[in-house]
Amino acid sequence: MKKITQNQLLALKDKSEKITCLTAYDASFASQIDAAGVEVILVGDSLGMVVQGRDNTLPVSMDDMLYHTKIVARAVKRAMLIADMPFMSYTSPTLALENAGRLIKEAGAYMVKLEGGEEQVETVELLSKYKIPVCAHLGLQPQSINKLGAYKVQGRNEKAAGKMFEDALALEEAGADLLVLECIPKQLAAKISKYLKIPTIGIGAGSECDGQVLVLYDLIGISLGRIPKFAKNYLENSGSIQEALKLYASEVKAGKFPLAEHSFD
Ligand code: KIV
Repeated sequence: MKKITQNQLLALKDKSEKITCLTAYDASFASQIDAAGVEVILVGDSLGMVVQGRDNTLPVSMDDMLYHTKIVARAVKRAMLIADMPFMSYTSPTLALENAGRLIKEAGAYMVKLEGGEEQVETVELLSKYKIPVCAHLGLQPQSINKLGAYKVQGRNEKAAGKMFEDALALEEAGADLLVLECIPKQLAAKISKYLKIPTIGIGAGSECDGQVLVLYDLIGISLGRIPKFAKNYLENSGSIQEALKLYASEVKAGKFPLAEHSFD
């Protein structure tokens, strides 16, 4: 079976077909997600919270990301595999290049994801130069939690919204291939998605993004702690995990998820 490529995601955006994405942290779940037809699998550093039981994603290490990406990669036949770059693994462009290279070469990721705007432009340019596909991440950036103080909606005032829009354009210009938009007003996500050529993948960013991502454990209702407003438990109305995954994929494709109740103004 052929793996999904960046060109296929661009083609989906061009024909306004929504892209489906879920997180996975191990081979068994990754295999189920792949079989459900989900196009992109993200080995998110959310594993720090949902797998390791930590308060935030900050303690997740490169070794953790290499391990989980490797075991997910073994099971994935079709989906594009993205691996998160953990906190402090991309504090300079050269460090980012070294660590991104390991996630691709040693662990089998197709693309790496990193958080940040303008300050990551030089890093994205360097990774692009060395042919490492990059997924950027704007809006709520969980690795900034100690500066933010709380997980909350970003880009609500005019200044912050304008800055995020400029950051998105700069990241695309630098060579980013995808952009995750987390917890931002749906109108802002719609504007960014319309202006960018690269696909946007939203989480708590409304239905106008080019695709959607959820944390797997939120989708099956087993995450520790509070389930965010933008998540939906698909296991509740399905007979099995496989049915829940298929239902999520079909609802995203049909524009039935996310609804207004999962989004922010
Ligand atoms: O770590 C993660 O799971 C993520 C998604 C929520 C986008 O970054």
